[in-house]
Amino acid sequence: MYKTLTSSDTMEETSPVYKKRKNGPVQQTLVLGDLSATLERERARKEEEKKNAAPSVPKKTKIKVQEAEFEKIFSISRLGDPVYAREMKTFYEENGILCINLENKIDKRKAVREFVTSLFREMPYRDEFMLNFKLANGKEVHVNNDEDIDDIVDVLLEKRINAVNLSRLKKCLLPHATFGAPCTPPSFHMKIENEIRQDPQLYWAVAFLLNNEWINCDFNRAIFRVPTVTEGEDFLHFDLDPRQIRSSVDSELQGKVCITACKFICVPGSNTDEFLKRFVEVYDPLYPGRKLGQAKYSLDPDRDPWGLFGKQRAYIVPAGHAVFWSPKILHGHPSFDRETPISIGFYLGFHPEVSPAERAIRRELFSTGGIPEKWPSGDRIWFFPKKFQNFPKVLQSTVIDKLTPDAHEVLVTTRTTQSGKVVPDMKPWGWKGTFEPFPFTPLGEYITGQRKWGE
Ligand SMILES: [Fe+2]
Repeated sequence: MYKTLTSSDTMEETSPVYKKRKNGPVQQTLVLGDLSATLERERARKEEEKKNAAPSVPKKTKIKVQEAEFEKIFSISRLGDPVYAREMKTFYEENGILCINLENKIDKRKAVREFVTSLFREMPYRDEFMLNFKLANGKEVHVNNDEDIDDIVDVLLEKRINAVNLSRLKKCLLPHATFGAPCTPPSFHMKIENEIRQDPQLYWAVAFLLNNEWINCDFNRAIFRVPTVTEGEDFLHFDLDPRQIRSSVDSELQGKVCITACKFICVPGSNTDEFLKRFVEVYDPLYPGRKLGQAKYSLDPDRDPWGLFGKQRAYIVPAGHAVFWSPKILHGHPSFDRETPISIGFYLGFHPEVSPAERAIRRELFSTGGIPEKWPSGDRIWFFPKKFQNFPKVLQSTVIDKLTPDAHEVLVTTRTTQSGKVVPDMKPWGWKGTFEPFPFTPLGEYITGQRKWGE
């Protein structure tokens, strides 16, 4: 029988606060000079276009993001060397993005196995909607069979999952599949996440980077992105409103750990104070009516006088590496076309020590297996994609209709919309069995914000 969660009710599909900054192997020089002339020309061109345009549907520009490799990747085992660590810091300060090789800290197969047995096997779905594949030799494998798990891991790690298994995987995906970061309880509590969260070498590297030993990691979730499902790369945006950036933001670091290879898209140079100042002067008039302080300040390729869409780079993060970025960077999301392998990992950011209230929440969540009610940004976390609230039929077909009879009885409810209509709704679910708290080290309790630094 599924327990329902009490400490949080819902989750949001937007990611927590991240964003990132510039850099890359291909050094980009942003053309910041003579911006007003550029802008003027752009306005004139648009005016001309408007005059000549037939009254047809405006066409959206689509730009393919160019791939790039990091100029330098830092090895976690060498970051105890102050000279090497300083080199890393300089690289981050100059580029705003940083890739660290975690070396032997991640056993890829073991980690993916945990995704299968924890994330997927914890779903309260009927057998036909639980992860299952057909192997090349014709054998059928299913997540509920222990002896099939290694075969399932093999399929997930294939360079190109075949059409039959991709179709089965899509049928069995967790809520938030489109965004690629599920918000079910195991997503926040996997062992692999906690092992890396409390890793002393990584902690010291980040503390050095941020000039602060009293930092906490964020309490964030897993990443599982599937080809042809995850949303595409034309969502170029700042996570923070560039017109209103907090001064404390430089004390934070956003990041993710890539169990399998992934990409990180950003615009080199877009996090510097100079860039942001000029960006606001030039771009903000092109985006009238935006409320100050809005999260996810996104750009439109047809309102892009500096050609920032073309300046995006998709940095390749190899398997077993972490990528970190400044919270101020203009960034995108990689598209997942048919040729893209499944991307598996988890978010891992760092920030100054949390408040006593947040510490109490974290202690509770880590001991009970709950999920947070809000992101550090203050945005509410939605257990299911927020948009399902407006599309109850989608909630019905993508989640409710897949539930086991037991789970259906416990979890499904109704609610009345503003117009007085009664529609299906759901409670978030907890764990199938008993949640086992992770045995954190004392350092791990400090890093994860369960224990106050200095006490
Ligand atoms: Fe973002």
